[in-house]
Amino acid sequence: MILETGRVVSAEPVADLGTVLRVAAPDIASRAHAGQFVHVRPGERFDPLLRRPYSFHGIDRRAGEIELIVKPLGAGGDWIASRRAGDALDLLGPLGTAFVIRRATTHLLLVAGGTGIAPMKVLAEQEAARRNVTLVMGGRTIHHLWPAHRLPAAVEYVTATEDGSFGVRGRVTDALPPYLEWADQLCACGPWPMLAALGRMRAEAARATHVVAGKDVLMGAQAAVEQHMGCAMGVCRACVVVTADGNARVCREGPVFSLGDVRFEGGEPATVGRSA
Ligand SMILES: Cc1cc2nc3c(=O)[nH]c(=O)nc-3n(C[C@H](O)[C@H](O)[C@H](O)COP(=O)(O)OP(=O)(O)OC[C@H]3O[C@@H](n4cnc5c(N)ncnc54)[C@H](O)[C@@H]3O)c2cc1C
Ligand code: FES
Repeated sequence: MILETGRVVSAEPVADLGTVLRVAAPDIASRAHAGQFVHVRPGERFDPLLRRPYSFHGIDRRAGEIELIVKPLGAGGDWIASRRAGDALDLLGPLGTAFVIRRATTHLLLVAGGTGIAPMKVLAEQEAARRNVTLVMGGRTIHHLWPAHRLPAAVEYVTATEDGSFGVRGRVTDALPPYLEWADQLCACGPWPMLAALGRMRAEAARATHVVAGKDVLMGAQAAVEQHMGCAMGVCRACVVVTADGNARVCREGPVFSLGDVRFEGGEPATVGRSA
């Protein structure tokens, strides 16, 4: 884990998704992997006090740069998203677990919701030259989708919007079934309800007594989850979620978990976890 003062190279709002910050941070970039995150200091003073976690949205080792996509929900995100070229950004990372792509995978299915596009874009960029990659992304409207032209041309891009303004009308899980049959590995990142819906699809497939297309893909799926964080170093236990092995810290044992290990029925972040 490295404490590094990054230098913002560019800042660009992308529709209603958030602001994409490109940050020169060579030490962190050299060790970063898709699914991991940086803990970002959200100001120069002590209010807000706590750092905010953001997944890598781009990793360019050669240039020594990383990208983050920051949706400002409150004071911390506001400050981070308002950084401009030349500004310094205090970063701690890379932190947490990364997605593991199996060597034998030929058809990789990526599933993203909202700013969950961050690690999925890193995987798309890294894996498109090695295997077939389909990215399925869902958003409320067309303005909540990642722009197609900012993905590698080799990536098949499928979209779903809740208002039907682009792609399949409905949720990302409505667009998935044909691709589950096609894929041999699935990685996902998005809001808790999206991941919980994927978890239910997996549980149903596991229970089925008949042959279910895509069952093996669901059984082996990996998901990156979000939870409020304090230290991001495994100490404060602010970030626990309930898993098959009991409470797990999203900053240490996660954020990437086996989909089947996360007990989504425990509730949404900030309410998940149980006293040990
Ligand atoms: C591993 C990890 C990776 C993340 N990656 C990204 C990313 O790539 N891009 C991005 O925009 N965000 C990401 N997040 C979420 C981001 O850290 C929070 O949105 C951020 O901390 C909010 O800070 P704020 O100051 O803007 O809002 P705050 O003032 O802290 O909170 C404002 C509101 O947002 C809610 N909120 C805060 N954090 C979360 C959360 N994690 N999930 C749901 N609601 C929350 C609060 O309950 C409150 O209602 C990630 C979180 C984790 C744990
Ligand atoms: S944020 Fe402190 S233990 Fe995870």
